[in-house]
Amino acid sequence: MTYSLTQLAADIRETLKADTNPTAKQKVCGLVSKALLDKAFVATHLKDRTQGAHPREVLYEDPELGFCICGHVYDGTAKGSPHDHGSSWAIYGQATGVTEMTDWRIVEKGSGDQPTLVEPLKTYTMNPGDAHLYDVGDVHSPNRDASVRLIRIEGKNLDHVKRSNIKAK
Ligand SMILES: [Fe+2]
Repeated sequence: MTYSLTQLAADIRETLKADTNPTAKQKVCGLVSKALLDKAFVATHLKDRTQGAHPREVLYEDPELGFCICGHVYDGTAKGSPHDHGSSWAIYGQATGVTEMTDWRIVEKGSGDQPTLVEPLKTYTMNPGDAHLYDVGDVHSPNRDASVRLIRIEGKNLDHVKRSNIKAK
């Protein structure tokens, strides 16, 4: 049986209703992995974008808890800058292709106009089926050598969240 978007949303709701600690969010990673490995889910929700369309599409936004299930379809190569997700957490799930992810350590907390300075901590590969939690305040940067498709969960809709000012040291 295929895993539907409705079922994924319901499972995430149930998990986050019970608790929102890191263990609960890790459980959500498991649910995302299940969707990533479901060929029908990926084919249905991570379709090619039309020319000029935004690579991120909000597939579901929970009216009560505020989390979003997003589908990302990225073409070509890219080198991401280190960033956090402001007051939100995020889960990155790799559906197709490979992401080279780097986690960064905060060495100096910024304030006012001064950016937070970070240095790389570890780099790892995300392959199809892998899901990774970036909790509130975690800094990461994704690189890709080719096109990728992702399912990303945002703790709250990142359209409305201000990111921190972060710079590599
Ligand atoms: Fe991110």
